[in-house]
Amino acid sequence: MLHLKATDILKKPIEILAIPVCENLDMFEQPDLAALVTQAKKRKEFTGKHQEELILYDPPGIQAARVVFLGLGKAEKMTTETLRQLAGAAVKTATRKQLSILTLAVPESGRLPLKQAAMLQAMAEGAYLANHLFDFYKSDKKDRPLGQLHLLTSPEARKQFRGLIRQTEMACEGTCLARDWVSMPPNDKKPARFAQLIATLARKADIAVTILNEKELHQLGFGAMLAVSAGSSNPPRLVILEYRSGKTAETIALVGKGVTFDSGGINLKPSGSLEDMKMDMAGAAAVAAAMIAIGKIKPPGRNIIAAIPIVENMPSGTATRPGDIIKSYLGKTVEIGNTDAEGRLILVDTMAYVIRQYRPDALVDLATLTGACVVALGEKIAGVFSTDHALAEMIVQTGEETHERCWRLPLPEDYKELLKSDTADLKNVSGTRHGGAITAALFLSDFIEKTRWAHIDIAGPAFAKKASAYCGAGGTGFGVRLLCSLLTKSERIAG
Ligand code: BES
Ligand code: ZN
Ligand code: ZN
Repeated sequence: MLHLKATDILKKPIEILAIPVCENLDMFEQPDLAALVTQAKKRKEFTGKHQEELILYDPPGIQAARVVFLGLGKAEKMTTETLRQLAGAAVKTATRKQLSILTLAVPESGRLPLKQAAMLQAMAEGAYLANHLFDFYKSDKKDRPLGQLHLLTSPEARKQFRGLIRQTEMACEGTCLARDWVSMPPNDKKPARFAQLIATLARKADIAVTILNEKELHQLGFGAMLAVSAGSSNPPRLVILEYRSGKTAETIALVGKGVTFDSGGINLKPSGSLEDMKMDMAGAAAVAAAMIAIGKIKPPGRNIIAAIPIVENMPSGTATRPGDIIKSYLGKTVEIGNTDAEGRLILVDTMAYVIRQYRPDALVDLATLTGACVVALGEKIAGVFSTDHALAEMIVQTGEETHERCWRLPLPEDYKELLKSDTADLKNVSGTRHGGAITAALFLSDFIEKTRWAHIDIAGPAFAKKASAYCGAGGTGFGVRLLCSLLTKSERIAG
């Protein structure tokens, strides 16, 4: 859907051309584009201020039927995120007019604070992601997404950035896939079906797939994971995805929490907290969609294993009770203090299994793990916990680049005290309400042995109640671009 076009396109007909305009800097050296910006700035109502918009119809000199000028504000304040949002606004303007091809002019001046590759990628991302709609369940599909997004650059840039654009497209496609899965209603993504949806697309992307069923999980000793699914009539699955590249320097493991509906179990959640709990598989969705993108991008130098536990957390006569003691895959016994702290149970069995089976050099898990993390960091920032400083830094840095913001929180050893049980090796919840995101992460840390590990709590940013510049309401696909970007970097992730 994303295409790079060179500037001679100005001689060809264009449905709608979008041009970013800076308040205090001329961003285009290409004379036709520069002349258009001069024309726009002659109007009193348009100066290039942030979020200003001006549309000219059939301007002289070029063959564009419409040109929309979008204000970027001051050059020194411009970031890649400003460009993502601007590209998102251009898509919305074009769709409102029911058009099918949007051409976006990418700034090119050497005087700008950002590199051209970064500007191109950001605009491609904002446009691609803003063009996604979740309307599968609507009978009357009012809005139609654009059919094509053209990015206008110089002929040299067109040649140079072809690979970058393809990679960006794969990561964005993965993000939209994760969004669809997270927004999908829970009656349509019960564990067996969700596992199958992942498997079909992963195989198509050249990823090896293994699915373990309830009987196999039982034989392997996944006691903590099975305790969570015990209350549901929909049996669990563990999906394992493997990407192998020729010569490899490191093996990276990914784990994603896949609770297709979290009712809380016997500790049933109250109304108000239940409605959006279809999103509790957003970690699984992000990990699976990133793997599918990775299968297409084929980054060299590392093997990547993803393990995705998928369960439904329901109350019933067969459900696990508070007070029950269960035996985890590693052999440690866990007293269930609260059946709503289920994510950590499915994660620890899966992480321990992946570590035993694959001996990864580093493991990263993504999970909508705690409401406490949302209290701490709000709805747009994820929490990162790691025993490894370099790995945590790399995740935070990558999240800055993709604007999937992550903030590191501590793993204080002495807080482990809070997870002590009188009767079992440990308890799945602490006795206090305070520091819930930390105690959840500390619980996980008890099962990773000596493996280099980072945990990303995405409970806040995985789901949006309201639409924003390039994301509709519902699943956000948070983490997919971050993982793709991390896994395609040339430097080692495992130090
Ligand atoms: N899935 C929830 C966490 C969550 C909350 C995700 C809000 C997204 C938005 C998790 O399984 C849960 O219920 N956690 C409990 C833990 C508590 C029982 C220790 C929580 O956060 O309240
Ligand atoms: Zn829960
Ligand atoms: Zn949950």
